[in-house]
Amino acid sequence: MVQFNLPDNSKLTKGDNYSLSETSQNKKIFSIYRWSPDDDKNPRMDSYEVDLDSCGPMVLDAIMKIKNEIDPTLTFRRSCREGICGSCAMNIDGTNTLACTKSISEIKNEIKIYPLPHMPVIKDLVTNLKNFFKQLASIKPWLNISKKSNGEENIQSKKDRAKLDGLYECILCACCSTACPSYWWNSDKYLGPAVLLQSYRWLQDSRDESRAERLAELDDAFKVYRCHTIMNCTQTCPKGLNPAEAISGIKRMIASR
Ligand code: SF4
Ligand code: SF4
Ligand code: FES
Repeated sequence: MVQFNLPDNSKLTKGDNYSLSETSQNKKIFSIYRWSPDDDKNPRMDSYEVDLDSCGPMVLDAIMKIKNEIDPTLTFRRSCREGICGSCAMNIDGTNTLACTKSISEIKNEIKIYPLPHMPVIKDLVTNLKNFFKQLASIKPWLNISKKSNGEENIQSKKDRAKLDGLYECILCACCSTACPSYWWNSDKYLGPAVLLQSYRWLQDSRDESRAERLAELDDAFKVYRCHTIMNCTQTCPKGLNPAEAISGIKRMIASR
């Protein structure tokens, strides 16, 4: 069950209703989590009626329409609108996903939207990802090579390059990590599926020279072994990647080193 990190001593309340003033045969209700650190109020769910005849097809289109035309105080992140930047990750209709690639027509009835679960909320749908990116930095997500290139290409065979397929496509949206119960309870020590998939991407790179050091760093009771193969991560990834398999790969590499 999805759980949310509510501010201390607060409870989720019913919020304001924003109804359409004109009649529409094609309207949809979006119920959206709202919380601001600037007042002492409880978090609430505001409801917005949106005319789908004048709205784009994706959930992000509706959220932007709400902000532009109904309620400019609604706060969320977005950038590319193409499923590339990862910034519009949120919980839509019970699943962590990207608002810009989630089609409104896929969801029957009212659409409920929350911030990514179990993360501290900065405001409304914006979560604090500081710990997530600190963990990413800890696995040194870059190519480690000692020799100077002298302007030459660092050649990789097609076979070795193919080993990065299914890994390099990760956009670091954090949908998987914030769907993982092990990460919910141990995000201070467990690296979580997104960061571990990144870690596996560098472990699989034939050009990298620090495989042994990377594996020694990961061989820790919490960093990797808190994964219990529950598979929420793989089910939720909006890019169709398989972080659970990457974690199994890391475990195999540690065991056979
Ligand atoms: S497979 Fe591992 S990383 Fe993925 S959700 Fe389950 S415990 Fe978390
Ligand atoms: S593995 Fe998928 S869900 Fe996880 S951060 Fe990467 S793109 Fe997002
Ligand atoms: S806005 Fe970039 S992934 Fe959705």
